[in-house]
Amino acid sequence: AEVEPFYGEHQAGIITRQQNSLVFAAFDLKDSATVPSVQTMLARWAAAASLLTQGKPVGPVESRPMTPPADTGEAFDLGAHRLTVTVGFGPTFFDDRLGLQDKRPAALQPLGQLATDTTIDPTISGGDVCVQACSEDPQVAFHAIRNLARIGRNVVTLRWLQEGFGRASATSTSQVTPRNLFGFKDGTANIKAEEPAVAGEWVWVGDETDQDWMKGGSYLVTRKIRMHIEAWDSDDITDQERIFGRVKESGAPLSGGDEFATLDFTAKTDGQPAIHPFSHVRLAHPDNNGGAQILRRGYNYTDGIDTRTGTLAAGLFFMAYQKNAHEQFVRIQNNLAQDAMNEYVSPISSSLWAIGPGLSKIGDWYGKTML
Ligand code: HEM
Repeated sequence: AEVEPFYGEHQAGIITRQQNSLVFAAFDLKDSATVPSVQTMLARWAAAASLLTQGKPVGPVESRPMTPPADTGEAFDLGAHRLTVTVGFGPTFFDDRLGLQDKRPAALQPLGQLATDTTIDPTISGGDVCVQACSEDPQVAFHAIRNLARIGRNVVTLRWLQEGFGRASATSTSQVTPRNLFGFKDGTANIKAEEPAVAGEWVWVGDETDQDWMKGGSYLVTRKIRMHIEAWDSDDITDQERIFGRVKESGAPLSGGDEFATLDFTAKTDGQPAIHPFSHVRLAHPDNNGGAQILRRGYNYTDGIDTRTGTLAAGLFFMAYQKNAHEQFVRIQNNLAQDAMNEYVSPISSSLWAIGPGLSKIGDWYGKTML
């Protein structure tokens, strides 16, 4: 469908069949922000998002001749293109500025520095509030972020913004698996919308939470991972496939079968494990992480070139949704400290967000049961 439903148990943009473009914005609260001003902004964002996701402008254009038009206009005539708007809160939202310390979920403890985190840039990490806009049309996603930023400009300032030009995961069995910038299929072994029981177990916050307002929500990890493309492009195909544990063209496991065949870590080729012990898929697999699974929803990005070296400044804006990032993402990421892929990637930003449940109906707004 062209229009994704806005109201529901969960926010759209998580298990929703992944759209092809992303604009993700992190905001900081202004010093002058108060609980009432934040409430007003979140209510206006909810009203705006309910219109934008139906392909409508956030307000009239010609109503008052001496004021700027309510909608900025660049998405007129484009339609919704399956736009989803997903709003969340960072750990710092719950510090002493708004006095909401007792509303902070225990699971929103900051990720801190992980084993592979030597190059994290704090200026493109963290933030108080986030908005993820996904659409099949990049201009529609940009328009949504621009208009929410405009609506919120007396309460929040933009901290960082990330565009993604192509999906690097699949969240539905109805989609073909896309490819990341290393040229490998990405999203083969992912949680899919057609498996609601798996999503119930691993994605949606349930009764285990210490904060009722998070029930039906999820925790989002965002990691900008620079990929050293020129080095990768000079690595031989055998090594590339050994690093992932899969065949480049077909996406099939090196242990045999088609793309969706079960990985067999006991299979041998010439007496050696067919799937290398330090391969990405082996270290990331649930069997080696106490069963932990995550919903991956990342995007390929480019920032142009790194002018110091003349190399491509491109990679993966990794996003993963889960019930508890400390028990799921962090566990897997720590296992990936041995990943053969690490030689070719550097994480440069890292953030954790609490994504509340879906909005129930007109009049409901983001964080209404929390604020
Ligand atoms: C699987 C690429 C980072 C978790 C895969 C696959 C590829 C891939 C090609 C195999 C296809 C698939 O099953 O989707 C990448 C690249 C990364 C990256 C290029 C960084 C630039 C991460 C990170 C995590 C992660 C940071 C989590 C900490 C997983 C998981 C799987 C997977 C859980 C599925 C493993 C399985 O059950 O078989 N990734 N990945 N990946 N990746 Fe990554």
